[in-house]
Amino acid sequence: NTKIVNSKTPNPRLKFILSKLVDHLHDFARETRLTTEEWDVGIDFLTRVGQTCTEIRQEFILLSDVLGLSVLVDGISHPKPEGATIGTLLGPFHTHDAEEHQQGDSICSEGKGEPLLITGKLTDLQGEPIEGASIDLWECDENGLYDTQYPDRDGPDCRGIVHTNAQGEFVIKCIKPTPYPIPHDGPVGQLLQVIKRHPYRPAHIHFIIEKPGYDKLITALYHKGDRFENSDAVFGVKTPLLFELVPLGEKLAKKYDMNANDWYLEQNFTIVTEGEARECRIAKSKKFLKENVEGEFEFNENGLPIASVD
Ligand code: BEZ
Ligand code: FE
Repeated sequence: NTKIVNSKTPNPRLKFILSKLVDHLHDFARETRLTTEEWDVGIDFLTRVGQTCTEIRQEFILLSDVLGLSVLVDGISHPKPEGATIGTLLGPFHTHDAEEHQQGDSICSEGKGEPLLITGKLTDLQGEPIEGASIDLWECDENGLYDTQYPDRDGPDCRGIVHTNAQGEFVIKCIKPTPYPIPHDGPVGQLLQVIKRHPYRPAHIHFIIEKPGYDKLITALYHKGDRFENSDAVFGVKTPLLFELVPLGEKLAKKYDMNANDWYLEQNFTIVTEGEARECRIAKSKKFLKENVEGEFEFNENGLPIASVD
């Protein structure tokens, strides 16, 4: 009885999580009729995943990513009410050294790829502009590499922060993103190879949008029609996050000192207050549990299930 296994855990949330984990692990073994030899292979694989982790390499997160667990947990933990821009997984290439840019600046140095202008507006659920929010964006260059993947990196490139103006608007120059493979020279890459899955992500640009009082939005935009749109190695693509590029045209090219045949994307974002995010999380949590999970549990102050006091 797995309830007994964890019965001395004083933290009710931990108790609930651990007892569910053990229940599902046991069901997994029972349902697959798992053999000792097969579980030895599993243990060996997990051992190699752990041994591959270093200060700068997190193979366990990568494993969670390719199993679709990272994007699932992100969606459960950061559900968005209707009308809000949805989130997706962060990935390992965000850094904290991105520089602040002025409206209309480029976050990419010369020669990194085909120039792209992004303009947009940030609003709340009521459609009101949000001023002074920080938009932190990052992407790989035309070689499919983030700046951090170059051994001679001497500072941030293809990443930067811009703040929205009084009308909630932002304008930033960057480059057309390129599809790239996730790190696949370790055990997770071997797993993909064994099950005949490719390691590629469709071309995308990552965004973190933040303003005090609002729920931090971690998301990414994906290039519609990319050859990996329907087979992202880490399952991050969601239909509302697809974008299409159009040629910039003479007028904008002149205004922003670019070429008419550079690329253009108009992309608006809608973020929610911390209160709206919390309300949405609690409502979705209660609805899901009620409709899908049998057994005894209660809800804590965050609307998350906990072991019922017995
Ligand atoms: C990324 O989009 O940067 C990413 C996400 C998951 C694994 C590897 C890379
Ligand atoms: Fe990425």
